[in-house]
Amino acid sequence: MEASSLSSAFNITSNNTVRLSNNKLGGGCSLKVKKKVNVCCQSGKKAIKSSGSSSLITERSSTLMNADQGAALMETSLSFAPNGSTQTEIEVKDLVPYSHGTSTSLVERPADGIGITNFLGGKTFLVTGATGFLGKVLVEKILRTAPDVHKIYILIKAKNKEVAIERVKNEIIEAELFECLRQTYGKSYQAFMLSKIVPVIGNVCEANLGLDEDTTHMLAKEVDIIVNSAANTTFDERYDVALDINTGGPSRLMSFAKQCHRIQLFLQVSTAYVNGRRQGTVMEKPFSAGESIARESLLFGADCIFLPTLNVEDEIKLVIESKQAIDDSVLAQRMKSLGLERANKFGWQDTYVFTKAMGEMMIDSLRGDIPVVIIRPSVIESTYREPFPGWIEGSRMMDPVLLYYGKGQLSGFLADPNGVLDVVPADMVVNAILAAMAKHGEAGKSGSNIYQIASSVVNPLVFKDLATLLYEHFNSSPCFDSKGKPIRVPKMELFRSMEDFSTHLRRDAISRSGLAASPHPGGKMSGKLESICRKSVEQAEYLANLYEPYTFYGGRFDNSNTHLLMGYMSKEERRKFGFDVENIDWKDYISNIHIPGLRRHVMKGRLGRS
Ligand SMILES: NC(=O)c1ccc[n+]([C@@H]2O[C@H](COP(=O)([O-])OP(=O)(O)OC[C@H]3O[C@@H](n4cnc5c(N)ncnc54)[C@H](OP(=O)(O)O)[C@@H]3O)[C@@H](O)[C@H]2O)c1
Repeated sequence: MEASSLSSAFNITSNNTVRLSNNKLGGGCSLKVKKKVNVCCQSGKKAIKSSGSSSLITERSSTLMNADQGAALMETSLSFAPNGSTQTEIEVKDLVPYSHGTSTSLVERPADGIGITNFLGGKTFLVTGATGFLGKVLVEKILRTAPDVHKIYILIKAKNKEVAIERVKNEIIEAELFECLRQTYGKSYQAFMLSKIVPVIGNVCEANLGLDEDTTHMLAKEVDIIVNSAANTTFDERYDVALDINTGGPSRLMSFAKQCHRIQLFLQVSTAYVNGRRQGTVMEKPFSAGESIARESLLFGADCIFLPTLNVEDEIKLVIESKQAIDDSVLAQRMKSLGLERANKFGWQDTYVFTKAMGEMMIDSLRGDIPVVIIRPSVIESTYREPFPGWIEGSRMMDPVLLYYGKGQLSGFLADPNGVLDVVPADMVVNAILAAMAKHGEAGKSGSNIYQIASSVVNPLVFKDLATLLYEHFNSSPCFDSKGKPIRVPKMELFRSMEDFSTHLRRDAISRSGLAASPHPGGKMSGKLESICRKSVEQAEYLANLYEPYTFYGGRFDNSNTHLLMGYMSKEERRKFGFDVENIDWKDYISNIHIPGLRRHVMKGRLGRS
């Protein structure tokens, strides 16, 4: 991205406002498994896709095992960090309770619930990120439960109309996720889908979303609801890239929303981790321009050192100036470290969540009278029930660890055994999106309404319990090696310190490599072995810094607003659009839904028969 594109995208005034520079089915369905694929789990193929927003493990940070040699050599490592001493401690009591905040205005509870399907009927949507994991689940659910929706315009990156239509067909219409609709509409399935899903070529990083004039006019006339699910979800992305998509994207979309004559609601998919390094129970409180987590902690701390106010305009200027001053050869690396530096300075753990938080701030600055819903899911994993259990795309957050463990390639990881992994199934997130959309779209009141879709307060999944659960699962339903033998896994070890974890990784790498630690006369390892070990430990240390805020996360996401929202739903709506995270049986979800989903949709049988 050119430096100039950031400045052309945001034109921010001193009071932190931004202007564009240019101006029939109910429940789930059953999925038929056509054939069972038995493939060796140690395929040696890279199984990680860097798509999870909270993907703790990204493509670049995957543990790759050289399975062809029979013994896996650790090239890079999965790793997790110890609790950071740099985290600013904020007591639970220091956090402003949501009820004292400024947003959610829930209206009287009607006897027939929120009226979700009624609300959706006849509506025209503009959705970004519809080709992504969550976006697809959203589009599927709308079309299945409200087939009388008028149209879903999806903003899609493509060089021309043909390519855009091809993307819709390949990435949405043909996706297995849509099997229920395929069964319902039979031969007219494609025609139905193309009559509802209309691609518009655009890019949230471009002025006026990259829309041509005709499309702008058409959308401005027709669109009722805007949903922004587009994001760059790499934790340590270049600052310029993340800022442009995650902060600039919502700003440009909100500016576009203001051109839409019928706009009823702007819905932003954010993340619960915008709460950064807040500690304890964190409430569903909106962000306003100028706020920062670091500043918040200083307000409560004794030492009042100088800390500049977070100003998105300054961040853009900093990026532009830095890019001009940096040599091309080191630009990418420098932009990455700059993102992390800025995030840490203001109290966020990484570039992704920092830029998403600034995205929320921009929406708040720009929204005017437009009703806004901000949905903050924690880590989104496979579907719980609908359209069928276990659908997932890509190996997300906890999945690489889980899969490598199952394959016998990793026997521990660095996490607080008593810490919590905050996970929510994708269909529950989508249900909450639709309920909040109907609630606030119908009410039509201006304001910012925050919903944290998270489990850590109401139904925590504790790391040590997860470890036990995985041990039991993979011993009763093992993966198979290349010779068809079941892989027995040891109990998963959890490490509280980087040092212990590094030692463990080193020992593991040596034993898996099949190379004897044959000391040289001076007591040293062979050069090859040393290089393998050093590489894996270095990688582990790098990842430890990146992922420490998540495996030792000190915050727990309150979901009072989300809980209240469910209270407004009728019995029938709760059955069709429920998001009762509180009642998820984690053992059942992980063992009988999520891991089978990963085996089927991500590993596509490469884990061997189960
Ligand atoms: N996954 C999680 O665990 C999780 C957790 C909490 C919050 N969230 C939030 O949920 C949302 C969806 O996440 P996801 O997991 O579905 O992400 P995803 O699978 O990575 O999908 C990202 C989507 O954004 C689109 N996109 C990226 N850059 C764009 C641009 N410049 N212009 C237009 N579209 C662009 C992508 O389009 P292309 O296909 O063209 O690249 C894709 O459709 C994000 O806002 C994320 O922050 C995710």
